[in-house]
Amino acid sequence: MQAPTAQIKVDGKELTLPVMIGSEGEKAIDARNLRKDSGYIFYDQGYGNTGSCESAITYLDGDNGILRHRGYPIEQLATYSDYVETAYLIIYGELPNAKQRQQFSRRLRDNAAIGTQMQRIFEGFPESAPPMGMLTSIVSSLAAYYPELATNNFEKDLQNFDLAAAMAISKIRSIVAMIYRYRHGLPFIHPRDLPFADNFLHMMFSDPYVAYQPIPEVTRALNLLLLLHADHEQNCSTSTVRMVASSGANLFTSIAAGVCALSGPLHGGANVAVMQMLQSIHDEGDDGTRFIQAAKGGSKSNRLMGFGHAVYRNFDPRARIIGKACDEVLTRLGKSDPLLDIAKNLEQAALKDDYFVSRKLYPNVDFYSGIIMRALGIPTDMFTVMFAIGRAPGWIANWKEVASNTKGRIYRPRQVYVGTPKRDYTSMDQRA
Ligand code: SDX
Repeated sequence: MQAPTAQIKVDGKELTLPVMIGSEGEKAIDARNLRKDSGYIFYDQGYGNTGSCESAITYLDGDNGILRHRGYPIEQLATYSDYVETAYLIIYGELPNAKQRQQFSRRLRDNAAIGTQMQRIFEGFPESAPPMGMLTSIVSSLAAYYPELATNNFEKDLQNFDLAAAMAISKIRSIVAMIYRYRHGLPFIHPRDLPFADNFLHMMFSDPYVAYQPIPEVTRALNLLLLLHADHEQNCSTSTVRMVASSGANLFTSIAAGVCALSGPLHGGANVAVMQMLQSIHDEGDDGTRFIQAAKGGSKSNRLMGFGHAVYRNFDPRARIIGKACDEVLTRLGKSDPLLDIAKNLEQAALKDDYFVSRKLYPNVDFYSGIIMRALGIPTDMFTVMFAIGRAPGWIANWKEVASNTKGRIYRPRQVYVGTPKRDYTSMDQRA
């Protein structure tokens, strides 16, 4: 059977371009020779219609609300797996057997501590420093403290990949806990021989004289949250990691770029913005109508935060899972949260409003995640750094795909120049 092709007719010439079909049936027109053969480029602001790579990590069908990691549906991973196992799956491509799980867990445990020299970076920040501002800087410093794992030579860096990957996941988790302690004037708590999520809660909430007592419901909820954030196809921060990695940059530096991209309110910063929106509605005694009306105005700064998605034109499956978990976690912890009721009312109102329905705007992963984090005692300004802990495996797996691709090229998009045409230099006395 002849391979499918696409025809483009331009300047009287007919071009035949190959068509690629992915393992889940996604179709792409291979435009790698378009400029050479026609002098034209495609223009696609925001890359919404452009595939930058072939990837085998995560499959996302935005029209049908499907999310799978290495073929496993997110609903099954959320039900049966935990964050460490899902991180291993995303990075290495298969669910770990017992020995692989044990080795990976031990590598995470053995690399949880932050060295005394690296701890001194914290002192350079005011206690009021924004958590993401601290995280971007401190994650970036990993390349300086572990240059032997960050040589910017893919062959060498891939030889040390297992250690570097475990270090990145484990230390980002520890750095986040230390940011919390530092900003609250509390002494750093060293990691212990505990499972990943329990160790995080220990480093966040223990005192030097009284260890935090892990509560199974809290550990389970934290595992679920981190698992649901572990990877998400070519989102803004993951694409940024790949862009930086394509220059030959090491894992730590590439991940630090991903942390920077995650900080924006349209991406990882949305979970903070959602809680601020829900809190404002609560404080105003509003039923959300004012926010919904403002959101329909079309201005980016008034958007209904936690709603809409660059790819999902249906429910974000993670939002469904987290929304359900909210009730369970609050009930198990014997807590209630008025913001959850406000969120539910807001969701119902928006899903009946033609503005949102016609634009296929549904709740995304950020709409409910803050409710659970708040129930776990995590302050709102720490929500985005929590997202970074979750997303580390996805960034790592994508870096590895770029680093392992011996035929890969540096990512270098083109543009359409709309500036001033050619003109000659003028001396100062000739200028207006
Ligand atoms: C994440 O990409 C990923 O996978 C990201 C993520 C991941 O796991 O990595 O899923 C995590 O970032 C989730 C998204 C978190 N962001 C928010 O919740 C912020 C609020 N949402 C939006 O700003 C917006 O929906 C985006 C940024 C998420 C998507 O923006 P797009 O694809 O550029 O959508 P768009 O601007 O083309 O919107 C289409 C229309 C526009 O209206 P019209 O011009 O057609 O009249 O929908 C409107 C937009 O104004 N719109 C919204 C809206 N989102 C889109 N209107 C009101 N409220 C919103 N939330």
